[in-house]
Amino acid sequence: MSDPKPYYLTTPIYYVNAAPHIGHTYTTIAADVIKRWKSASGGQAFLTTGTDEHGQKIARAAAAQGKQPKEFTDLIAGEFKRTWDEFGLNYDYFQRTTDPKHAKYVGQLYAACKKAGYIYSGSYSGLYCFNDELYVTDAKPGDPCPDCGRPLEQITEENQYFKLSAFTQRLIDFHEKNPEWCRPEIRRNEVLAFLKQEGGLKDLSISRSTVKWGIPVPDFPGQVFYVWFDALMAYYTAAQEREQKLWPANLHLIGKEILRFHAIYWPAFLMAATEAEPDKWELPGGVFAHGWLLFDNDKMSKSKGNIVRATPIQKVLGADALRYFLLREIPFGGDGNFSFDALVTRYNADLANGLGNLVARVLTMARQYGITPTRGATQDIADLLTDMTSERQKAFERYEFHRGLDAVWNVITRMDRYIVEQKPWELAKTGNRDKLEEVLANCLTAVQSITSAVSQVMPESSAKITQQLEGGDLTAVFPRADAKEVIPKMQELEKQELSRQAELLGKKEEPKPAAAPTPEANGFISIDDFSKVDLRVGLVLSAEPVPKADKLLHLKIDLGEAQPRTILAGIAQHYKPEQLINRKVVVVANLAPRKMRGLESQGMVVAASLEGGSPVLAGFLEDVPVGARLK
Ligand code: MSP
Repeated sequence: MSDPKPYYLTTPIYYVNAAPHIGHTYTTIAADVIKRWKSASGGQAFLTTGTDEHGQKIARAAAAQGKQPKEFTDLIAGEFKRTWDEFGLNYDYFQRTTDPKHAKYVGQLYAACKKAGYIYSGSYSGLYCFNDELYVTDAKPGDPCPDCGRPLEQITEENQYFKLSAFTQRLIDFHEKNPEWCRPEIRRNEVLAFLKQEGGLKDLSISRSTVKWGIPVPDFPGQVFYVWFDALMAYYTAAQEREQKLWPANLHLIGKEILRFHAIYWPAFLMAATEAEPDKWELPGGVFAHGWLLFDNDKMSKSKGNIVRATPIQKVLGADALRYFLLREIPFGGDGNFSFDALVTRYNADLANGLGNLVARVLTMARQYGITPTRGATQDIADLLTDMTSERQKAFERYEFHRGLDAVWNVITRMDRYIVEQKPWELAKTGNRDKLEEVLANCLTAVQSITSAVSQVMPESSAKITQQLEGGDLTAVFPRADAKEVIPKMQELEKQELSRQAELLGKKEEPKPAAAPTPEANGFISIDDFSKVDLRVGLVLSAEPVPKADKLLHLKIDLGEAQPRTILAGIAQHYKPEQLINRKVVVVANLAPRKMRGLESQGMVVAASLEGGSPVLAGFLEDVPVGARLK
């Protein structure tokens, strides 16, 4: 008997401190593909996405725009929803944590945990990261947050605690008995390692008195729920009060940085509540944590100004181009890189020249020679297509989208070759009608199977191809893109999108570091600015004079990386090469490489520069490991 419950799938609910970028879109695209694929396999699927709107981080972001939290979160939640809608993402429900219905269910989880004896009052005095909404118990004052690197703040408060410590062993047993629950394997291992660390799990404060913007704790006036106790429940709330039973979720799709919350806290909350109310709080079927999407190999961030949004790409190359790129380029689960160059290169190679070209060639010939497929494919081609379909299916079952797509593109290449080998145009010329029909029937069947194999990744384009297969006008599904033209166009639209969003939030423009009243105005830099400089301990392996440059020394410095760095330092008149070998120095490791005297200098050695005197290299009195970061 088939399962009457729809397959219930979720994306994380996104923080509304900033508008969506392609990192958020990446997860939502993957969820959309899984949903379409599950529905295509005969079942029903339900996808929830939404926004995480409470907590100090959001309240501060709202205040920075001179807005009340609700007004601000309405705007940003609207931006997420609008982006998903415009992009054609096929979600079923958009859950906001400010939805009053949600507070009711959070209260129910709390009551059940309390009834089961897992809630107690306690006090906390220590460091807190308002960005991650986390107590940081193992840091010293002045240390940055170990997760996000932002400054920690000292707080003292009386809270409600959840007895997470009681679940260490239960969670270890759970993850060991359910090896498929947390995927990929590497993430499961991380979770198990975290659970097995000495001392096990610490209890977790689930309420805050320092924060006002949140769901009030029913029996603890002045306190609101810790954002994660509130946020995780969005998955549950979205599944309630529906005609069909949706809970438990079958899969939570997340980014790897929120694994601990999903694979430790969430099952622990549900296990606790289940003790009081069996059957109501079933555990989800699993969690899949994908990797991090970088932009030009760098983390996207507002302060770096390197945020990429999905809409400009959609307007220039189509939503399918981005969907395909992200799922083909990056093995799902691993980290990956986005760049406009790579996007356009792949678009031209795989879509314009690959799939698009095959479709155009086959359909043009079929129409030109008046062939409608009256027969199926020959055995060899039918086998090829069956193998492709099953390989793709197996890959999707393991969430290995890139492999599934590889299997399809192998067939595209194979069919291109088949056409060249069979030369249908010659068969037409010589009047070999029977063979011509056979060859084109093979090609048309292949195009049909390929179209259906990519339909979840590229729904719009496959619909277009299907229309053409059914006799619609032939137009290029993926017109070739000239990088010199489309990249500036996407970048220009990025700028427009940025100012539209800034305007929406009530500001004329995004604050530019130089123009806004920043700490620089007083001659200070912010901690964020300082943290941009990557200072590292390096060991000088060799030092040699540079021919015809009497001030330069050519140094090879070990920074603990795979290869030593080549660094040219202007200290030849003050240090002899032999004085430097084996010496530990401080290196600016992320300085843009610079060519000098035919050599590329990959960093800079730091020295005190004395007015009228010799520079003195920075060094250490204590022994320090090579590669250690100075911060
Ligand atoms: N609000 C929490 C999640 C609560 S879920 C109960 C949160 N929000 S977030 O806005 O920071 O979004 C996190 C998710 O967005 C990540 O887990 C990931 O799915 C997606 N991504 C955001 N930026 C990303 C990249 N640069 N790369 C890949 N995914 C990224 O954490």
